[in-house]
Amino acid sequence: MRTDTGQVFKLEDYRPNDFSIPQTGLTFRLSPDATRVTAVLTIERRDGAAASAPLVLDGDGLVLKRIAVDGRELAPAEYLATPDQLTILKPPARFELLLETEIAPASNEALMGLYRSSNVYCTQCEAEGFRRITYFLDRPDILSVYTVRIEAQLDEAPLLLSNGNPVESGALAEGWHYAVWHDPFPKPSYLFALVAGNLGQVADSFVTMSGREVELGIYVEPGKEGLAGHAMDALKRSMQWDEQAFGREYDLDVFNIVAVSDFNMGAMENKGLNIFNDKYVLADRETATDADFANIEAIIAHEYFHNWTGNRITCRDWFQLCLKEGLTVFRDHEFSADQRSRAVKRIAEVRTLRAHQFPEDQGPLAHPVRPRRYREINNFYTATVYEKGSEVVRMIRTILGSQTFRAGMDLYFERHDGEAATIEDFLKVFEDVSGRDLSQFALWYHQAGTPNLTVSSTHNPVTREFTLEIEQSVPPTPSESRKRLMHIPLAFGLVGAGGEPVAYGGVEGATVEDGVIHIRKRRHLVRFSGVDERPAVSLNRGFSAPITLSVEQKADDQFFLAGHDSDAFARWQAFNTLLTDALIAAFRQILGGAKPVFSARLTGLAGKIAGDETLEPAYRALALALPGEADIARDIGRNIDPDAIFTAREALVLAIARANQDAFTKLYGRLAEDGPFSPDAASAGRRALRNILLDYLSLLPGGVELAARHFETATNMTDRAAALTVLAHRHDGSPEAIKALAGFEARYGADPLVMGKWFQIQASVPGPKTVETVRALTGHAAFSMANPNRVRSLIGTFSSANQTSFHRADGEGYRFFAQTVLEVEKRNPQVAARLATALRSWRSLEPGRQAKAREALLAIANGENLSADLRDIVERTLA
Ligand code: PHE
Ligand code: ZN
Repeated sequence: MRTDTGQVFKLEDYRPNDFSIPQTGLTFRLSPDATRVTAVLTIERRDGAAASAPLVLDGDGLVLKRIAVDGRELAPAEYLATPDQLTILKPPARFELLLETEIAPASNEALMGLYRSSNVYCTQCEAEGFRRITYFLDRPDILSVYTVRIEAQLDEAPLLLSNGNPVESGALAEGWHYAVWHDPFPKPSYLFALVAGNLGQVADSFVTMSGREVELGIYVEPGKEGLAGHAMDALKRSMQWDEQAFGREYDLDVFNIVAVSDFNMGAMENKGLNIFNDKYVLADRETATDADFANIEAIIAHEYFHNWTGNRITCRDWFQLCLKEGLTVFRDHEFSADQRSRAVKRIAEVRTLRAHQFPEDQGPLAHPVRPRRYREINNFYTATVYEKGSEVVRMIRTILGSQTFRAGMDLYFERHDGEAATIEDFLKVFEDVSGRDLSQFALWYHQAGTPNLTVSSTHNPVTREFTLEIEQSVPPTPSESRKRLMHIPLAFGLVGAGGEPVAYGGVEGATVEDGVIHIRKRRHLVRFSGVDERPAVSLNRGFSAPITLSVEQKADDQFFLAGHDSDAFARWQAFNTLLTDALIAAFRQILGGAKPVFSARLTGLAGKIAGDETLEPAYRALALALPGEADIARDIGRNIDPDAIFTAREALVLAIARANQDAFTKLYGRLAEDGPFSPDAASAGRRALRNILLDYLSLLPGGVELAARHFETATNMTDRAAALTVLAHRHDGSPEAIKALAGFEARYGADPLVMGKWFQIQASVPGPKTVETVRALTGHAAFSMANPNRVRSLIGTFSSANQTSFHRADGEGYRFFAQTVLEVEKRNPQVAARLATALRSWRSLEPGRQAKAREALLAIANGENLSADLRDIVERTLA
């Protein structure tokens, strides 16, 4: 584990290194406890660097076995080696450096560098894992051409993979063999990868737009080849889409994907050799839900798209992380929107952004999309860098229009191919192709916090003028108390009584182009002339900007828009706002000791939307999914009592169910599966709608039997998991729930990924006693503190998706959590640090829980020998 030096890295301190490493040769002699790594580096002093400059290479826990310069072993006085650094005191201007290090992959539980997962050797180098393999200039602006030779025992590791193209392979003495790989594209060390082991292969091929044939391989645990078909199909569709949508062609002879079961993140875009968390590769209808199928498709696409946005053009330094991540998320979102339903995809994206990025931006861990400082870069793979980063790219497209945006992207690829670039480089291409000044817009990268727009409207029938008064503000965030005014592209529509767009004569008070108001000042009075009747205003259509809105809007207008807005996103939003408002009102009633009441108009609208056959089933399902408890808490903002929120939400679910019992029952019946299973979007949408109807109906008389029948007759994991969730959450402790949980366990006990769902469902059962359930489940045979997926299923779900149990009033949820985080940290600091972010909104809790959450944070902070990862998170959270 890396020791915490407390050092803070700052953007303004960036300097190119004095040296470059044009060529990197690596030889691995693999063995679980003592792998020998021989690096042969061609090193050159850069023009302009002082002749006396020493060469300082990064290391992390390394043992140096041998060092030679141009074939001559160095004397001890000529260098200085510690586990974390290697200094060569007087290096020549150009030389070949030979280094031998020894590492122990089998005992590497941090899963960074070279490690073993189910007896497969694999690597993870982003962000700073390469320095756990050999000493190197382990920073993204050092681009090198790699040649890699892997030697292993043939029976232990028949498959030997690395980046680039295969060059040669053959047998060696005593049952060993070798393979050599060469990657012609210069790359930073974080994109290096190696895989060696015994794996099953699924092979296919793809012919690129210029007619080159690429061999595709997906490697999985032997016996699981049948589960890789969806991933392979997604890969081919991704390759084709990037050619059509962005003109980007694949550039090597092979493209390989390996699925491993121990992985800190979702997947990794190593050049030509993507390594995946197996959760995002393996799927069939028996074991994967529709959400799993959609995630696999999105992540396969994401990693593939990195080949151009991340690999061919990489980042100058880690402050530029959003240059590859935000842009690549934008690209994968667009891919999924094209493959599935655009409106549904957009709503799902916004829900995710609000659930993960908004609380980050509104709490102690807030940071700009391009941060200016960090202590531990691992902690900046955040929703802000990824999701808000993607929204910023989307806004550039909104401002420029699709064609100019595409021209900008073309220029970006042309101008920066083979380089390590910056956000300034990225913005410049769009300024150059459009002639626009994006300097105010650039604040989206530099300034943290979620901007808010306050909007009110007036209509004057005499002057026929309709006026929008819009005021912007950006709340303060840690270390940024004063904010500058942003450029916010606000898509809007004026909607007439029949749902039609209202025509207007002219506009004054702001630039309005293509249905977008460009907010640039603190306050705009936007005056539309020639408007006869007061229209309803539809705002932030398509979620054109990642902001919050405070709109003075009549309930009538909101109901009207929820039924008639021609923009599908805004229509969904209008209904969601009505639901949120009702839930917040109910929360206040409950705190005041009253029973919440909901209007028949609201519960009736839910029924109307559910039954509206002009709307896609997936859209209707999203509309019926009430705002989550955490969403409601975020919108309330302070003095949160999670129990009251839960009670309010349950009351609304019940009110909607009661008001629509007949209609929901009939629709539920009509949606029953007919024909063979297909994971496609339309079928998935029908399942989603039917499963949410089950959730409502399960609260009515006969509900538990209905859910049990749903569970027993399910023909796929989506329906089975949905029914099990309903039984476990809504009928906790019932014989039906107990039977279903046991049946699921008996059926899938040997499948670790499916058991993850079983843990997840139980970890999210509302109510105080789940703390004990989760504690007990940590001792289950299928659970392991060393496996990140299992830890996330059980502990991650408990802490981030179980408001009533995690935030138990007596603090027991927090105490259990703090203990567990410290236990995970001993093995895997990165996973522990990410878990710990579950407490980031502690200051918005009511005082009693706040004090108990603080104690838990302090208990973590006082842990012995804390890693840089965890210390950074707890200290910022407490600050
Ligand atoms: N770069 C990976 C991605 O987003 C994420 C990742 C980061 C994976 C760090 C592993 C380690 O695609
Ligand atoms: Zn990525």
